[in-house]
Amino acid sequence: MNRIVFALLMGGTVLSASQGMKIYGAKCAECHGGDGKDVSVAGKPLAGAKGTLAKLSGYKNGTFGGEQKATMQASLADLSDADLKAVADYVDTLK
Ligand code: HEC
Repeated sequence: MNRIVFALLMGGTVLSASQGMKIYGAKCAECHGGDGKDVSVAGKPLAGAKGTLAKLSGYKNGTFGGEQKATMQASLADLSDADLKAVADYVDTLK
Protein backbone atom coordinates (compact mmCIF):
# COMPACT_ATOMS: atom_id res chain seq x y z
CA MET A 1 0.00 0.00 0.00
CA ASN A 2 2.71 2.46 1.01
CA ARG A 3 4.58 1.63 -2.15
CA ILE A 4 1.66 2.61 -4.28
CA VAL A 5 1.31 5.93 -2.51
CA PHE A 6 5.04 6.53 -2.93
CA ALA A 7 4.87 5.74 -6.64
CA LEU A 8 1.95 8.11 -7.04
CA LEU A 9 3.80 10.86 -5.20
CA MET A 10 6.92 10.38 -7.30
CA GLY A 11 4.82 10.34 -10.45
CA GLY A 12 3.25 13.61 -9.40
CA THR A 13 6.64 15.22 -8.82
CA VAL A 14 7.92 14.18 -12.22
CA LEU A 15 4.75 15.43 -13.82
CA SER A 16 5.08 18.75 -12.07
CA ALA A 17 8.72 19.11 -13.16
CA SER A 18 7.99 18.54 -16.83
CA GLN A 19 4.92 20.74 -16.55
CA GLY A 20 7.12 23.48 -15.11
CA MET A 21 9.58 23.15 -17.96
CA LYS A 22 6.74 23.41 -20.46
CA ILE A 23 5.33 26.54 -18.85
CA TYR A 24 8.80 28.08 -18.64
CA GLY A 25 9.46 27.46 -22.34
CA ALA A 26 6.10 28.88 -23.36
CA LYS A 27 5.81 31.85 -20.98
CA CYS A 28 9.19 32.83 -19.52
CA ALA A 29 12.04 31.94 -21.87
CA GLU A 30 11.34 34.82 -24.25
CA CYS A 31 12.42 37.30 -21.57
CA HIS A 32 14.63 35.26 -19.24
CA GLY A 33 16.33 32.99 -21.78
CA GLY A 34 15.92 29.24 -22.17
CA ASP A 35 18.56 28.65 -19.51
CA GLY A 36 17.45 31.47 -17.18
CA LYS A 37 20.68 33.37 -17.74
CA ASP A 38 19.48 36.13 -20.00
CA VAL A 39 19.76 39.50 -18.23
CA SER A 40 18.75 41.76 -21.10
CA VAL A 41 15.13 42.17 -20.02
CA ALA A 42 15.03 41.64 -16.25
CA GLY A 43 18.53 42.92 -15.47
CA LYS A 44 19.44 39.80 -13.52
CA PRO A 45 19.50 36.09 -14.21
CA LEU A 46 16.95 33.66 -12.79
CA ALA A 47 19.50 30.85 -12.85
CA GLY A 48 21.14 30.34 -9.47
CA ALA A 49 18.55 32.40 -7.58
CA LYS A 50 16.55 30.88 -4.73
CA GLY A 51 13.01 31.24 -3.45
CA THR A 52 11.36 31.59 -6.82
CA LEU A 53 7.90 30.58 -5.61
CA ALA A 54 7.89 33.34 -2.98
CA LYS A 55 8.87 35.90 -5.63
CA LEU A 56 6.25 34.73 -8.10
CA SER A 57 3.53 34.70 -5.43
CA GLY A 58 4.70 38.16 -4.42
CA TYR A 59 4.33 39.46 -7.96
CA LYS A 60 0.86 37.99 -8.12
CA ASN A 61 -0.36 39.49 -4.86
CA GLY A 62 1.60 42.73 -5.22
CA THR A 63 4.03 42.29 -2.29
CA PHE A 64 7.18 41.78 -4.40
CA GLY A 65 8.76 43.47 -7.37
CA GLY A 66 10.84 46.33 -8.67
CA GLU A 67 10.25 49.07 -11.22
CA GLN A 68 9.19 46.64 -13.91
CA LYS A 69 6.91 44.46 -11.82
CA ALA A 70 3.89 45.15 -14.03
CA THR A 71 5.64 43.12 -16.74
CA MET A 72 5.90 40.12 -14.47
CA GLN A 73 2.39 40.54 -13.11
CA ALA A 74 1.05 40.39 -16.67
CA SER A 75 3.16 37.31 -17.41
CA LEU A 76 1.75 35.47 -14.39
CA ALA A 77 -1.85 36.61 -14.61
CA ASP A 78 -3.25 33.49 -16.26
CA LEU A 79 -1.22 30.92 -14.29
CA SER A 80 -2.92 28.91 -11.54
CA ASP A 81 -1.29 28.33 -8.15
CA ALA A 82 -0.29 24.83 -9.34
CA ASP A 83 1.30 26.33 -12.46
CA LEU A 84 3.21 28.86 -10.34
CA LYS A 85 4.52 26.08 -8.12
CA ALA A 86 5.50 23.91 -11.09
CA VAL A 87 7.32 26.70 -12.91
CA ALA A 88 8.99 27.93 -9.69
CA ASP A 89 10.26 24.41 -8.95
CA TYR A 90 11.69 24.31 -12.45
CA VAL A 91 13.35 27.72 -12.16
CA ASP A 92 14.94 26.63 -8.87
CA THR A 93 16.69 23.82 -10.80
CA LEU A 94 18.37 26.29 -13.19
CA LYS A 95 22.01 26.87 -12.32
C1 HEC B 1 7.76 40.14 -21.01
C2 HEC B 1 9.00 39.75 -20.35
C3 HEC B 1 8.92 38.75 -19.18
C4 HEC B 1 8.30 37.52 -19.17
C5 HEC B 1 7.49 36.87 -20.28
C6 HEC B 1 8.59 36.95 -17.88
N1 HEC B 1 9.37 37.80 -17.14
FE1 HEC B 1 10.11 37.46 -15.25
N2 HEC B 1 10.83 39.35 -15.20
C7 HEC B 1 10.76 40.28 -16.22
C8 HEC B 1 11.21 41.57 -15.74
C9 HEC B 1 11.28 42.85 -16.53
C10 HEC B 1 11.57 41.39 -14.36
C11 HEC B 1 12.01 42.45 -13.36
C12 HEC B 1 10.70 42.94 -12.72
C13 HEC B 1 10.84 43.85 -11.54
O1 HEC B 1 11.21 45.02 -11.72
O2 HEC B 1 10.55 43.40 -10.41
C14 HEC B 1 11.34 39.98 -14.08
C15 HEC B 1 11.60 39.38 -12.85
C16 HEC B 1 11.42 38.05 -12.56
C17 HEC B 1 11.77 37.41 -11.31
C18 HEC B 1 12.40 38.08 -10.10
C19 HEC B 1 13.88 38.03 -10.17
C20 HEC B 1 14.47 38.55 -8.89
O3 HEC B 1 15.18 37.79 -8.24
O4 HEC B 1 14.20 39.71 -8.53
C21 HEC B 1 11.44 36.10 -11.42
C22 HEC B 1 11.63 35.01 -10.38
C23 HEC B 1 10.85 35.92 -12.74
N3 HEC B 1 10.87 37.13 -13.40
C24 HEC B 1 10.36 34.73 -13.23
C25 HEC B 1 9.61 34.61 -14.39
C26 HEC B 1 8.89 33.42 -14.75
C27 HEC B 1 8.89 32.12 -13.97
C28 HEC B 1 8.24 33.71 -15.92
C29 HEC B 1 7.28 32.83 -16.70
C30 HEC B 1 6.08 32.41 -15.98
C31 HEC B 1 8.59 35.07 -16.30
N4 HEC B 1 9.41 35.57 -15.33
C32 HEC B 1 8.16 35.71 -17.45
C33 HEC B 1 10.31 40.03 -17.51
C34 HEC B 1 9.58 38.93 -17.89
